[in-house]
Amino acid sequence: MLIGRPHLHFRTVGSTNTEARRLAESGAGSGTLVTCDEQTSGRGRQGRPWSSPVGGTLAYSVVLRRKIEMPGTLPLQVGVAVCEAVESLGVDRAMVKWPNDVWIEGRKCAGILVEARPQDGWAVIGIGLNITIADEDFPEEFRGRATSVGRGVTFVNAIQALNEALGRRLDLDGSDSLVELADRDALRGRRISWASGSGVADGIDGQGNLLVRLDGNSGQVAVLNAGEVHLDVAAD
Ligand code: BTN
Repeated sequence: MLIGRPHLHFRTVGSTNTEARRLAESGAGSGTLVTCDEQTSGRGRQGRPWSSPVGGTLAYSVVLRRKIEMPGTLPLQVGVAVCEAVESLGVDRAMVKWPNDVWIEGRKCAGILVEARPQDGWAVIGIGLNITIADEDFPEEFRGRATSVGRGVTFVNAIQALNEALGRRLDLDGSDSLVELADRDALRGRRISWASGSGVADGIDGQGNLLVRLDGNSGQVAVLNAGEVHLDVAAD
């Protein structure tokens, strides 16, 4: 599908996702893109704020109009597309960290927030992609865990790469992205824990749930739903 027609770019905006949702509610077509120079109240998953230093992090939101399944694999499809976009910009290898992040060398370079209105047949795909922030310039709470695409990439290059990669991925069946995701699963084999359990990540199922081999000798596997858990990942 074609992404970026029309393209609305704001100098300053509260949240590009909020703007894209407003446009979707008033009938904007699939592929409508909202970006900005400065996002003042960006939103992350699970109600967390998302801060975007001016000029350092791209805030990118697209309207998608189609049959939307919830919960579904759309955020994972988007994750694969962001990996492909980042690699087309010169990064060697990018991985999806279930459920909504993209990592370069074990550090987060992008977060994804999909907000859907299935009953009205649309979703907004929001991507925050760090472009130029030096690793040591991230706020202290993220330092050592966040990174940028770097390599002299500009916002214009990054928007173009996201439009192409996302447009291509969204034309494919979701199951194609799950196959690709198996090779880009940053958590596979890693020790993880959440509020009520811990174990070793063991892949992602056809519905986009994370499978975890639970600690102990039971051989039991937990099936984690993206909406429900906040994961901690042990250091390598
Ligand atoms: C996360 O890591 O929790 C997801 C972050 C998503 C941030 C992007 S920036 C563009 C779009 N607008 C928002 O307000 N949020 C998303």
